[in-house]
Amino acid sequence: MNVERFIEDAIAEIKRNIQGRAIIGLSGGVDSSVCAVLAHRALGERLVSVYVDSGLMRQSESERIEELFKDLGLVRVNAQERFLEALRGITDPEEKRMVVGETFIRIFEEEAGSIGSDCLIQGTIYPDRIESDGGIKAHHNVGGLPSRMEFKSIVEPLRDLYKEDVRQVARALGLPAEISERMPFPGPGLAVRVAGEVTSDKLDVVRRANAIVEEELKEFNPWQALAALLGKATGVKEGDRIYGYVIAVRAVSSQDAMTAEAMELPWKALRRISSRITGEIPAVCRVVYDLTPKPPGTIEFE
Ligand code: XMP
Repeated sequence: MNVERFIEDAIAEIKRNIQGRAIIGLSGGVDSSVCAVLAHRALGERLVSVYVDSGLMRQSESERIEELFKDLGLVRVNAQERFLEALRGITDPEEKRMVVGETFIRIFEEEAGSIGSDCLIQGTIYPDRIESDGGIKAHHNVGGLPSRMEFKSIVEPLRDLYKEDVRQVARALGLPAEISERMPFPGPGLAVRVAGEVTSDKLDVVRRANAIVEEELKEFNPWQALAALLGKATGVKEGDRIYGYVIAVRAVSSQDAMTAEAMELPWKALRRISSRITGEIPAVCRVVYDLTPKPPGTIEFE
């Protein structure tokens, strides 16, 4: 791919397709960040970048994103309660995606309404479309979109790119390494890393576990490393039998997320993760490591 050429073309395409104001959902991931910078170059003040704090983000992520993108005039919407309420009682993974996707879109519509825009820019990339079209998963920035939407147009400048192409564009645009090299993180966030119903307690546990896993596995440079809360199991803590949470650790290598291999990590690193998670998070009494490649597993647990 000719990166400079892509950047020029993408900016020209955005200019051509968008006459008035447009809104973009910026999550801080490499896709939406690249999209926001391209759109900002094309539209300047006509672009409104919205960061929705869904409460499904990783530790300290919201504050960091606000800081990094303050030059784009980022609007932050605090919607933690709204997402929890929308997710209450929902256990099916695809239904969770729909609910999260729908809630995001309704918030964007409200924000767009308040600035008089009917155009949404999205950072959908090629593998998102393929997996959604193939019915593998309804990625919320594609298949999870509600059928009734207020937006007249949706512009997806990265629709033909693979993740590695997006990273190249990010570097060429001068985005910092913490964005250009950022691990993929699913649109529905930690909601798909909690098996079954999402509650604020479970989110708190899985958020802390993800922070430990990312910190401990950084040196191994995984495509993705994550923690998912699976359910409950018995354990013994401080001499008492408890019924605590099971955390699954997953670390994979991959080229494009369509297939993946579980990483062969040193036992010492795995042991350290296990002892930190059970030691630092009182409600967890068991940690397991997922060995499954994709296929048959997927990268996320839901
Ligand atoms: P799976 O779990 O399907 O994930 O092997 C492939 C890649 O996509 C991410 N992922 C998602 N991204 N919305 C997204 O924007 C989603 O609903 C979603 N589900 C999975 C996952 O983290 C991995 O990088």
